[in-house]
Amino acid sequence: MAISKKKLSIVGAGAVGTAAAQWAVSRNAADEIVLVDVIEGVPQGKALDLSQAAPLCGFTGKITGTNDYSDTKDSDVVIITAGLARKPGMSRDDLLAKNVEIIKDVTENICRNSPQAVIVVVTNPIDAMVYTVFKVSGFPKNRVVGMAGVLDSARYRTFLAQAIGVAPKDVTALVMGIHGDNMLPLTRLASVAGVPIEDLLSKEEIHRIVKRTQQGGGEIVKYLKTGSAFSTPGLAAMEMAQSILEDQKRILPCAAYLEGEFGISGVFLGVPVILGRRGVEKVLEFPLTDDEKKAIALSVEAVKKQVAATGL
Ligand code: 2OP
Repeated sequence: MAISKKKLSIVGAGAVGTAAAQWAVSRNAADEIVLVDVIEGVPQGKALDLSQAAPLCGFTGKITGTNDYSDTKDSDVVIITAGLARKPGMSRDDLLAKNVEIIKDVTENICRNSPQAVIVVVTNPIDAMVYTVFKVSGFPKNRVVGMAGVLDSARYRTFLAQAIGVAPKDVTALVMGIHGDNMLPLTRLASVAGVPIEDLLSKEEIHRIVKRTQQGGGEIVKYLKTGSAFSTPGLAAMEMAQSILEDQKRILPCAAYLEGEFGISGVFLGVPVILGRRGVEKVLEFPLTDDEKKAIALSVEAVKKQVAATGL
């Protein structure tokens, strides 16, 4: 199958947007990359910097920075990273209200210029922001998807690999549910080259790793103090974008709109999906145990509260 690389726009030239652009350049993942931000000069400077990596990393496309959405015209994939991060004294609800306004504006601009795009939403709180994009865009559910499960599963796989002492890429593991403390790192399905982790680690070790995964974002915020993780979140978004741009049909855990899958309807929630040219091509549904169902119900409750706070 021919690999088609197309036009990728990244909205938000902050830490995550810049990391996504850097990974896109280093992976030669699109023919054209457009970095957009409201701050004059920042996307232009960052894109110029990244364009000069081409001789060193083999990027053959074009990367530009802009403050004008018309430059994003006819993008195949748009990654949204724009939004505020929580500042001292700001509640999660304050943040949510501010980011809903930003995301509404960004979405309208994307729809006007790229009505056929697949939108990958990264802005936090992801599960509510992806819902906002879905409602405002009016796009079909397959063309709006949230990033989080790829990041959370990468953290889970890293911690498992470190504990077992094996190559991280040989660890297969899935995190479902909300991008928050109620996320569900599945232990039953985690394996190292097919060997169940439950045969390699004690219950206590697995429990410790599950907790660490659930608090993986916060652990980094504690170190950075004024910011949150950006390198792996940027890569996780690119992993999704690349599967769509190149129609790879990867199975990746993403926030997808559910209409009855896993017995859940009307919310975006982290589930394994097939990502291809059409975006979310299928949700891979499988039977959950009673304990897993209870854990997922907690995620759904938390996401519904966030969505209610968007006022949409
Ligand atoms: C994280 O989990 C910032 O939500 C992002 O690191």
